[in-house]
Amino acid sequence: DVLVQDDPLPWSQHRPAPAAPKPNTQATGPNASPVTSTPSTPPLGTAEAVVAAQALAAKASSLDELRTGLASFDGLSIVKTAQNLVFSDGNPSADLMIIGEAPGREEDEKGLPFVGQSGQLLDRILAAIGHSRDNTYISNIVNWRPPGNRKPTPGEIEICRPFIAKHIALAAPKIIVLMGDTAGKALLPVTTGITKYRGQWHDYDPGHGAATIQAVASFHPAFLLRSPARKREVWLDFLQIKARLSSHPAGEVSD
Ligand code: URA
Ligand code: URA
Repeated sequence: DVLVQDDPLPWSQHRPAPAAPKPNTQATGPNASPVTSTPSTPPLGTAEAVVAAQALAAKASSLDELRTGLASFDGLSIVKTAQNLVFSDGNPSADLMIIGEAPGREEDEKGLPFVGQSGQLLDRILAAIGHSRDNTYISNIVNWRPPGNRKPTPGEIEICRPFIAKHIALAAPKIIVLMGDTAGKALLPVTTGITKYRGQWHDYDPGHGAATIQAVASFHPAFLLRSPARKREVWLDFLQIKARLSSHPAGEVSD
C-alpha cells in the first residue's frame, strides 16, 4: 500500500527538457555560413560516436569489461562534465533489472544510480513486491549525468543505446523494467505516450546473440513524486512484474 499513499516528497529533479534543436534550414553551398556547434554537441559526430560505442560494447565479454570500456569512452560531451560514471547498483545476477533515464546530481556525486529522492521512492516500490537492491539490478539508459539534470538528448540516447543493450545482454535478467517515457522510448518500439503503453509487455532483443527478455515500462518515480495519484498504475505494473518473476516456463518443475 506504500504505492497508493498520498505523500509526495518535494520534487526537485527532472526539469523540463530543453526545446529540440530547430532543423537546419540554412542554405547549403559554397557561400553558406558554417553550422556552429552548440555546447552539447559531442566531441565526435553522433554517427561516429555510435560506431565507437558499438565497437566498445561488442568487445566487452563481462560486466567488468563493459564498465572499464565505458570508463574509457570519450565520445560524448557529458562524459567530460560528469563527475563519475554511473554504471549500476544492486545484484548483477538478479532476475529483475530496473533501467532509468540518466543520473541526477546525487547519482553523479556517488557514482551510483537512483540514490536521490527518485531512488528512495524506487526502493519503496521494490519493497512493495518484496524486492531490494540485493535481488534487483539497476542501471540507466545514459550512464553520465546530463548537466543541470536536463533530459538526455536523442543523440546522447542513440550513442548510449549500444552500451545499455550490451549491459542487458551480459546481465541477462528475466525481466527489464523501463522507468519513464525516456527509457521506454529508448528501448521499446512504442510511438504513443507512456500513459498508454505502460504495463504493456514486449520481448526486448538485446542483440549479441542473447535471448529476448520480457520488458515493460512504468512511470518514473520522479513523475510519481509530482503526481502521486499515478502510483496506483505503478502498483498494478509491479504486481504483474512480481507474478512474472515467480512464474516458471511450462514444463519446469516449480520446486
Ligand atoms: N533518475 C533516473 O532516471 N536515474 C537515476 O539514476 C536517478 C534519477
Ligand atoms: N512522463 C514521463 O516522461 N515519464 C513518466 O513516467 C510519466 C510521464
